[in-house]
Amino acid sequence: MASQNIYILAIESSCDDTAASVMLNGKILSNVVATQSIHEAYGGVVPELASRAHQQNIVPVVDQALTKANVDKSQLSAIAFTRGPGLMGSLLVGTSFAKSLAYGLNIPLIDVNHMQAHILAHFIDEDGFEKPVFPFLGMTISGGHTQIVKVNHYFDMEVIGETIDDAVGEAYDKSGKILGLGYPAGPEIDRRAQLGNPKAYKFTKPKVKGLNFSFSGFKTAVLYFIQRELKANPNFIEENLNDICASIQYTIIGILMDKLKLATQQTDIKHIAIGGGVSANSGIRQALKNGESKFGWTTYIPKFEFTTDNAAMIAIVGYLKYLEADYAEQNVMASARLKI
Ligand code: KG4
Ligand code: ZN
Repeated sequence: MASQNIYILAIESSCDDTAASVMLNGKILSNVVATQSIHEAYGGVVPELASRAHQQNIVPVVDQALTKANVDKSQLSAIAFTRGPGLMGSLLVGTSFAKSLAYGLNIPLIDVNHMQAHILAHFIDEDGFEKPVFPFLGMTISGGHTQIVKVNHYFDMEVIGETIDDAVGEAYDKSGKILGLGYPAGPEIDRRAQLGNPKAYKFTKPKVKGLNFSFSGFKTAVLYFIQRELKANPNFIEENLNDICASIQYTIIGILMDKLKLATQQTDIKHIAIGGGVSANSGIRQALKNGESKFGWTTYIPKFEFTTDNAAMIAIVGYLKYLEADYAEQNVMASARLKI
């Protein structure tokens, strides 16, 4: 029935954010995220702590999402949840919660692949944001992922490049740790990069064939460079922080853009949709804009709240799968290494 109102409640708990969202016919009514600050003290996500925090957060977060949306549980058409990939302990909390709720309400349960969701977030109905046209390239860049995906249609995707070690966000965060910056360091490096000279210091780019990425060697290069400079000048970091940040950012963007350019050449696709927390980066946004005038690219960046880990992106996938009656069984299992 075309006129039917479809309400999806979506739950995301794959890493360190507990999130819930309510969607009506492709439009977001609420998008609640409880970020776990406990990990800041450790400079990275501690899986056991994440799982425990999800257990504490999930009921209030779902309640808040329903209240904000002004939707009652009885109105829901289906429950969507992140099945994977992610941290097993974290995924289990969202998966079990979604299963019991769907069972209790006697409505369909819909499993969602988190990596597909980052890309399909572009299809959330949002004023002022255009939806990509198929086929396009999706580039998901965050603290946990670095992936280039050829997207032929909603559920016809192919990973054509990905990191063989660290994610790009980790390159930012680990470099930041070496520089004594807080966690996560990406936004601070980005801010300082805009005040510094990007060519002050040169870091070699990793040599990885094809469309794959590697960032672990980059982090080591930053570490050795800083150790060497500190020997000569103990105040090296404080005196040159903006230049160091600008040079790190320049190298990272160069790595991303080289691969993206190669991907557009290999696929002959010039529509590019990016997502993930790192897509907030000012330098990356500028580089994409430059690609529009230089190479004829069309680029899409979703609203910021839909780029970082969130449940709105899970909701849109839930909605698209609901339209196809593509439901999960009650015995569906969380999958830490789920592939696209
Ligand atoms: O998507 P996200 O919130 O969480 C996951 O990792 O899944 O991404 C967080 C990552 C962190 O590594 C953070 O440092 C990075 O995104 N980040 C940035 C910027 N804002 C967030 N990196 C570079 N520049 C930024 N402006
Ligand atoms: Zn993510």
